[in-house]
Amino acid sequence: MARLELIATAAFGLEAVVSRELTELGYPDQTVEDGRVTFWGDELAICRANLWLRSADRVLLRVGGFPVTDFDQLFAQTQELPWSQWIPVDGKFPVEGKSVRSALHHTPSVQRAVKKAIVESLKKTHQRHRFQEDGVEYPIEISILRDLATFTIDTSGAGLHKRGYRQLVGPAPLRETTAAGLVLLSYWNPDRQLIDPFCGSGTIPIEAAMIGRNRAPGLDRDFLSEQWSQVPRELWKQAREEARDLQRGRLVLPIIGSDLDGSMVKMSEKHARAAGVAGDIQFREMDVLELKTAREYGVVICNPPYGERLGDHESAEAIYDDMADAFGPLKTWSLYVLTSHPGFERCFRCQADRRRKLYNGRIECTYYQYLGPRPPGVESQPLI
Ligand SMILES: C[S@@+](CC[C@H](N)C(=O)[O-])C[C@H]1O[C@@H](n2cnc3c(N)ncnc32)[C@H](O)[C@@H]1O
Repeated sequence: MARLELIATAAFGLEAVVSRELTELGYPDQTVEDGRVTFWGDELAICRANLWLRSADRVLLRVGGFPVTDFDQLFAQTQELPWSQWIPVDGKFPVEGKSVRSALHHTPSVQRAVKKAIVESLKKTHQRHRFQEDGVEYPIEISILRDLATFTIDTSGAGLHKRGYRQLVGPAPLRETTAAGLVLLSYWNPDRQLIDPFCGSGTIPIEAAMIGRNRAPGLDRDFLSEQWSQVPRELWKQAREEARDLQRGRLVLPIIGSDLDGSMVKMSEKHARAAGVAGDIQFREMDVLELKTAREYGVVICNPPYGERLGDHESAEAIYDDMADAFGPLKTWSLYVLTSHPGFERCFRCQADRRRKLYNGRIECTYYQYLGPRPPGVESQPLI
């Protein structure tokens, strides 16, 4: 098996979560940078990372890289990279480019130069003059950051947030990868009650249930590199069987997801069934103000309305005020809230113990963390 340099890309703020996930998967040899974690592994690592990573966006294969400041150099050195190791004679290889703070900043020209150079390289190694590109896809990305070019091939295909269970979306859905990140950043574990009182399409409870059951998030979908001859089908089969064996039975303590909007509750139920975790979550139509629990310890993780549009601001603030009334009595619970509203702590009438900057798509948010006391006799640690 080859030693491959792989990159798990991630939303800003979730790199440490992805890094921990990779370590737990058995890939501790890593470099963590903004938006990406580079790690080393063999072909089986491509299968495992795609199947298991919960908070990463994609898994890329790094083909090579070099410092570059002019087009001749870009063309000549791109040709020298080992393209034929990956791209077969009939392989389709679209090239996407991006350039940040670099001399070569016109990305269409960069893309054209790279495409031409790869064609020239393949002509020599495959001994052909033309390529039909009617076979399996190998999407290439050239990214130039401060005059350093990096060449990757996408192994995932559709982004990893596309688990396959969410066909419908509510008005402001959270990405599955972000929802998983929120749960992994919390102190929740399946022995504690978890409630999301603003569950919308159900993303946080469903991701938490999959984490609680150790269910690989990619088990029900396929990945582009499953079609590549370089990652044998046997390895995919092995990784999927391994993932099925590692899945645990139903959660003893069901997760609770609730929302004011009954249609969202129905949507959540549908998604939970599609994700195979319907038995692990109880969904309810409920205003956050009705939240009551007899349990002494537990965790609330939620993504309430932000009020991004003018006029919605005040209604969001009224909801945060209601949250203060609803969560006030839960002194021994931990509470985690993701919102972009800068006045959240004021309206909630309480300063967070920790804050973390995270992105919900393009919206810059803060993850406010209120840490309750540790239940007696429990060695509690955040999952990440
Ligand atoms: C930002 S969305 C949550 C999105 C969700 N995390 C998802 O992935 O789909 C906020 C949700 O809060 C619900 N909501 C608004 N006011 C509420 C209230 N007072 N009590 C309970 N839910 C409320 C809305 O119906 C909406 O579904």
